Amino acid sequence: TALTLLMILTAYLLGSVSSAVVICKLFSLPDPRQNGSGNPGTTNVYRLGGKAPAILTLFFDVLKGMVPVWSSYFLGIEPFYLGLIAVAACLGHIFPLYFNFRGGKAVATALGAMFPVAWEMALLLMATWLLVFKVSKVSSLAALITVSLAPFYAYWIKPQYTVPVIMISVLIFWRHQANIARLSSGQESSFRRRQ
Ligand code: G3P
Repeated sequence: TALTLLMILTAYLLGSVSSAVVICKLFSLPDPRQNGSGNPGTTNVYRLGGKAPAILTLFFDVLKGMVPVWSSYFLGIEPFYLGLIAVAACLGHIFPLYFNFRGGKAVATALGAMFPVAWEMALLLMATWLLVFKVSKVSSLAALITVSLAPFYAYWIKPQYTVPVIMISVLIFWRHQANIARLSSGQESSFRRRQ
């Protein structure tokens, strides 16, 4: 319907707002797209500016996934389309309209999009991420393991969302190509501040 299309568009446009770029600008930090790992996301903002800007980046990236899915849920949109709205928010983050289509990896946005419709799964994914991160101290590895497990979790807890979860997992995995190369050559940077 027209409403569903409107929400897909809204999710994409909201997802397109790169929290990392805006927050780095506000904090007078170097552009995350040109510094550190070059990725506009929480991990890289932490490397460049520490806790406060990183937490704000995480908060707004999660929020832009959460808001369109939650509003669509209240508008009575069907689960399958809620999944597509979640995908649209992630696509906005990855290919932002306002930033020359060069965005991030959509880990936080995907998590936010999941909360309103599958909070049990979102919590399980967060726990997985935190566990891998605690052991490895490598954010990308935590994301890669978490998104690899996500389709299985979905099939088990929220089978109606398995297809969109697979789509998002594939997107996030694909966005981590450079990280995968660095991980396999032992050169991946950890979650540490650069001085
Ligand atoms: O969420 C992004 C994270 O998985 C990797 O970030 O900056 O280390 O490429 P980065």
